[in-house]
Order: sequence, then C-alpha cells, then structure tokens
Amino acid sequence: MREYWIAPSILSADFARLGEDVDAVIEAGADLIHFDVMDNHYVPNLTMGPMVCESLRSYGLTAPIDVHLMVKPVDRIIADFAAVGASYISFHPEASEHTYRSLQLIRDAGCKSGLVFNPATPLTWLEHVLHKVDMVLLMSVNPGFGGQEFIESTLEKIVAARHLIDESGLDVRLEVDGGIKVDNIGQIAQAGADTFVAGSAIFGNADYGATIAAMRSEIIAAGA
Ligand code: DX5
Ligand code: ZN
Repeated sequence: MREYWIAPSILSADFARLGEDVDAVIEAGADLIHFDVMDNHYVPNLTMGPMVCESLRSYGLTAPIDVHLMVKPVDRIIADFAAVGASYISFHPEASEHTYRSLQLIRDAGCKSGLVFNPATPLTWLEHVLHKVDMVLLMSVNPGFGGQEFIESTLEKIVAARHLIDESGLDVRLEVDGGIKVDNIGQIAQAGADTFVAGSAIFGNADYGATIAAMRSEIIAAGA
C-alpha cells in the first residue's frame, strides 16, 4: 500500500504570519511543507531563501521541509539549506551545470535529493542518476507562480515516471507540483503519484483541514 503525502506549498500562505499559517496547515493534516525558492533569474519571480527556513525551524516546525529550488546556480545554496533544516532539496537539472554532482551534494549534506522536471523536460534525465534520487518531482505547471492550471499531459508523464521507478526497485517518491485541487487529485494519484503539492487549493480555502481531508478521500476513492 502506497503512502500518500500532502505537501502544502507555502507560496500561497500568509507571509505576514507564516509561522502560524504553517502550524495551522500541519494541524490540518499536512505531511510535509513545500518550500518554493525562486530567484528572479531561473524563474521570473522572487520568494524566500534559507533565512525563512531557519526561522520556521526556530519557531518550532518539526515536520519535514521540502525545499524546491528554482534557482541558478544550484550548488552553492544546497549547503545553506541543509544547515537550516531542509529535509528534501530538489532542483531543476537545466539550472545545474552538473546534475550528478548536485544530487551528490544534497545527500552528502544529509538531505534527501529531488530532481525536478518542467512540463517540457524529458524523463531521460533520470537515466543515469535514478540511484542518486530520493524524489522525482514532476511540474504540472511552468515554474514561477502559484494558482496556475494543471497541464493535462503531465498525467502520461506520471505514468511513465511511475513505471521507471517501479522497474528500478528503488525507494523513490513521485511528487507532482502545480494546479492540484480536490477535483483532480484522484486522477493524479491513479496515474502513480504519491506526493501532492498544493498551494492555492489549500491556502485559498479557510478550512485547511476540510480541503486536506477531501483530497485524501479523493485519493482513496480513486482506488490508487
Ligand atoms: C510553482 C511552485 C508550486 C506552486 C503550486 O512554481 O513550484 O509549488 O506553489 O501552487 P498551486 O498549487 O497554486 O498551483
Ligand atoms: Zn514547488
């Protein structure tokens, strides 16, 4: 039986009261906190860096933090996030000069490694590095902004990634990020995802618990 994780993206949280909002979403049943790092260079938006991750840890957050790097260059910032309590660190291979090295740096720093695929990025990037990857993250929107619409062709890509992971026999999570809502999460789970990032769908509705519970029942109803 697959273990399903819901990862609220704090990109859509209230930054003026981030600690409380993160507490609320954990209380509401989130499994890990998705932390979107944007640099106004690799993606056309600017968000937060290691200081905010550090603040959340010192505020008392104990849940895993899933750092999604949308930055270029990648390597220099890995150690900084590892030092302030990141659990997973994922990056886009196009943003790194040396994908294998970046994956190794993440694991050497004591974190779980993730490789992120933009909608047009082929899964062939996994071919020689899957054994270095703890999480495959498929973007179902173009990175940079919350609140975009789910790109349907991601469903086929999830099926293909699930196949690769299962064939390998390795313990690799399959996360999907962008446009996930209560009404499409079942399909996404059925295609083979086990970790679901949702920003606007969770933080956009005052009752976080109700949204997360509805998402879980859709996953169960989909019989995934
Ligand atoms: C987009 C980010 C996502 C984003 C998802 O670049 O990586 O994590 O916050 O937001 P929603 O769920 O609103 O599409
Ligand atoms: Zn993200």
